[in-house]
Amino acid sequence: METAPVVALAVLGAVVGLILLFFAALCIVRLWNEYVTWGYYEIQEDMSGKVVVVTGGTAGLGFEASREFAKAGATVVWGARSLEKAEARRAELMHSNPQSIIEFFPLDMNSLTSVQEFIQEVSSKFSKIDLLVCNAGMQNEDRSAKTKDGFEVHFGINFLAHFFMIKGIMDNLMNSGRVNFLWYFRGAQ
Ligand SMILES: NC(=O)c1ccc[n+]([C@@H]2O[C@H](COP(=O)([O-])OP(=O)(O)OC[C@H]3O[C@@H](n4cnc5c(N)ncnc54)[C@H](OP(=O)(O)O)[C@@H]3O)[C@@H](O)[C@H]2O)c1
Repeated sequence: METAPVVALAVLGAVVGLILLFFAALCIVRLWNEYVTWGYYEIQEDMSGKVVVVTGGTAGLGFEASREFAKAGATVVWGARSLEKAEARRAELMHSNPQSIIEFFPLDMNSLTSVQEFIQEVSSKFSKIDLLVCNAGMQNEDRSAKTKDGFEVHFGINFLAHFFMIKGIMDNLMNSGRVNFLWYFRGAQ
């Protein structure tokens, strides 16, 4: 058998394959750009009448973001695992800005039942939600730690619980509503 036609066919096959791969990659990039947006949420000057749900609003970034949302006039709804801490932190915000509207409901992202109960409480009180800030998160050195439902804690708390939250709250999110995610991969294995 002659080798020249075989080599030519192989080269042609490789070229066609590369072209197809190129177009497949283009399609993936297009779809990605269409459905996934990266960036930040710019807090509007006047957010009165808007409802912002923040997980983990009682500390760190969530607390500081809540301060700004409240200053802009939004109603801020926290999911908090300690109601005493939430009460104290709300008092702190009210002290610096007495107009702040902060509500909170129990939420332990360690348990999907708690997430479900939080969704029910929030949905029954607020028929529309403008923004959900998925912020609660933790980093535990113990890689064998599990959530109440038996998931690895980082996956269970930082991701799965928020996935449930988004899914459950979706019906109440305004058409123009947003979900903001703070993702933290450092140390993830
Ligand atoms: N700080 C950084 O450098 C950095 C960088 C990139 C991404 N991030 C991510 O940004 C988010 C906030 O970071 P941060 O530094 O502000 O964290 P933080 O100060 O530790 O605050 C975390 C918040 O999440 C809440 N939380 C933790 N576990 C929870 C649970 N099981 N159920 C309900 N709430 C829970 C905490 O509640 P309590 O008030 O009850 O403790 C707290 O309000 C996290 O998701 C983090 O992974 C942080």
